[in-house]
Amino acid sequence: MSHNITTQLSANSRIQEVDFNNIGFGKIFSDHMFLADWDGQTWTNPRIIPYGNLSLSPATSAIHYGQSIFEGMKAFRHEEKVLLFRPRDNWRRLNQSADRMVMPEIPESLFMEGLLALLNIDRNWVPGSDGSALYIRPFMFATDDFIGVKPSEKYCFAIFTCPVGPYYSKPLRIKVEEKYSRAAPGGVGFTKCAGNYGGAMYPTKLAQAEGFDQVLWTDPITHTLVEETGTTNFFAVTENGIITPELHDTMLAGITRDSVIQLLKHSRYTVSEKPLSVSELKQQATDGTLKELFITGTAATLINIEGFSHQGNYFDVMKSGNQDVSNMLREKMNGLRHGLLPDQFGWIEVL
Ligand SMILES: Cc1ncc(COP(=O)(O)O)c(C=O)c1O
Repeated sequence: MSHNITTQLSANSRIQEVDFNNIGFGKIFSDHMFLADWDGQTWTNPRIIPYGNLSLSPATSAIHYGQSIFEGMKAFRHEEKVLLFRPRDNWRRLNQSADRMVMPEIPESLFMEGLLALLNIDRNWVPGSDGSALYIRPFMFATDDFIGVKPSEKYCFAIFTCPVGPYYSKPLRIKVEEKYSRAAPGGVGFTKCAGNYGGAMYPTKLAQAEGFDQVLWTDPITHTLVEETGTTNFFAVTENGIITPELHDTMLAGITRDSVIQLLKHSRYTVSEKPLSVSELKQQATDGTLKELFITGTAATLINIEGFSHQGNYFDVMKSGNQDVSNMLREKMNGLRHGLLPDQFGWIEVL
């Protein structure tokens, strides 16, 4: 299906004001954004307009009752080409979130046509330097101005983009969380709904006050099994193979996680998705069989964990381990995403 996307270009580009050698993460926004409205029956008025503030009623349903979901994906530059990494997986996951949050689905054609039209207009914003990318934020929120808890009838779907540098600059120290939970069985942990992130901020703030970079979430019932970190999935490289916690409805099924699993299998590593207990990790860190810990996510890509703290004891994994698997994966992921390696998995869409 072809959507009739209208375009209003910004009078002046802001791109000259941007120091592309110093872009940070999430602070600079490209010139345009894509918007479409759900009128209760269908998606209407798909449009590209200059990036800017939205005008909303104070009674906007999303603000009060939390029907607000988002995605995060990246585009990379390869000479004059712009390469998108697995965008249709983000579209699929956005619709899984929409379904759970009683929000309308986005047709693949609307998502992809809006995205490609926006990237075409702002393609000069895709940075080319090492470690940088154009971060893409598709999101949807309820727009009824109505006070009362019920699904909204109207919604806004939007996409904006920002040129970004690396999310983390060094290996992380993480705290195994035993008191607070990010999600509960039967809840919304597997979605990217805004509330999941708001609820995680307090335990993360406490961990940061203790000198850690992130929380390592454990299962919400026993707090003995590892799940994921703030916005990333978790991997352990041991002498007997690579383990990542099996997915539950309390965890987000990361697209980078899936890519890393496929890359590992393709390179004939043993990789298992299974329950991973904190006591197992501690034992392996102590007896030297734990070689590497790393986390994966669109924003962070693949970052090593220096060590983890559990009940006041710190286990420094990097000191005695190595970074062989994480370095290999990082190189492969970067090569694939920047078009420097053949796209064997069909993950890249070229613009
Ligand atoms: C809670 C959570 N876990 C894991 C991830 C990693 O997912 P992906 O690799 O698709 O970015 C994210 C990021 O979206 C996240 O927010």
